[in-house]
Amino acid sequence: MSTLVTNIGELVTNDPAADDLLGLRTDAAVVIDGGLVTWVGAASAAPAADEVIDVGGAAVLPGFVDSHSHLVFAGDRAPEFRARMAGESYAAGGIRTTVAATRAASDADLEAGVARLVAEMRSQGTTTVEIKSGYGLTVDDEARSLRIASAFTTETTFLGAHVVPPEYADDPAGYVALVTGPMLTAAAPYARWIDVFCERGAFDADQARAILSAGAALGLRGRLHANQLGPGPGVQLAAELGLAAVDHCTYLSDDDVHALRDTETVATLLPGVEFSTRQPYPDARSLVDAGVTVALASDCNPGSSYTSSLPFCIALAVRDMGLTPAEAVWAATAGGAEALGRSDVGSLVPGSRADLVLLDAPSHVHLAYRPGVPLVARTWVS
Ligand code: NIG
Ligand code: FE
Repeated sequence: MSTLVTNIGELVTNDPAADDLLGLRTDAAVVIDGGLVTWVGAASAAPAADEVIDVGGAAVLPGFVDSHSHLVFAGDRAPEFRARMAGESYAAGGIRTTVAATRAASDADLEAGVARLVAEMRSQGTTTVEIKSGYGLTVDDEARSLRIASAFTTETTFLGAHVVPPEYADDPAGYVALVTGPMLTAAAPYARWIDVFCERGAFDADQARAILSAGAALGLRGRLHANQLGPGPGVQLAAELGLAAVDHCTYLSDDDVHALRDTETVATLLPGVEFSTRQPYPDARSLVDAGVTVALASDCNPGSSYTSSLPFCIALAVRDMGLTPAEAVWAATAGGAEALGRSDVGSLVPGSRADLVLLDAPSHVHLAYRPGVPLVARTWVS
């Protein structure tokens, strides 16, 4: 059955052939059929369809592509957040609190948690989500985290190398051997990607290299958490290895930006983290000005960024990171798609998946202009 969505006041297409970044069209219409966009053009020239939806001049965008989240967990870290707001600083060690709670949780509880957060995301316009493991850190708990995640998305990421769990505190090399051996073997059938938290207090560049290369040998493409808590080697390692994405990029040197500028590696910025940890926001402007592709993602997790809202991240990126509303919306749609190596989502051109967001607003600018307001009126997901 074909559906004509018409009387769109502002349509964000992200058409790369357009003159402007968002490929904006006014007084537009879109036809969707069989889960795909089959036609995009002027409302006055729209073809007939089985069903017609008149959106009354509102804005329509591609569904948001959230390329970084950690949704498989149990427990609550509100006390840690409260302490941070009273002056404590964020530390990677908090991850172990969630690991203990996740190991103790039933499959049903973990599944219910993911379902709740995916529903939150959907109601805020996210139509594609990447979900990582990383709170199990045993062979069985990592495999079950990914099995649960894979019921919700094809974009699953093995993050056994999140931190060294307490039982390996005296033997980090033994833990890397576990991650690159039996844990990877158990996780790989459920994972598309492999990720490492490359940071002081987690894994160093040599360990990250070994883990990513073991994953690549089983067909998992790499991505990295890097330069979140301080300067470090992760961004340049990601550029050197040609990873699809390097995420956080909070502390960037000029050399880091240089290293990224001639690569396809997407710098994924996660402003919910800076909001929730009171760290400085990453220098999005210097990345964009250098020609680096930038994505925005939620990093939804119980420690550093417990938001599921890409509209919130867009508002932060505009208010505090120097992106224009158009750049921020692009980063949360087409940028996220590039970070996941996907050409079928993140834009609305003929052949795109029919993943659309209807705003209760006349333009994409309202996503930053009206922060905290539930502007997503409807989503279509193919
Ligand atoms: O992306 N940086 C590492 N992992 C998460 C935080 C996880 C946690 O604090 O539980 C992140 O920020
Ligand atoms: Fe993360």
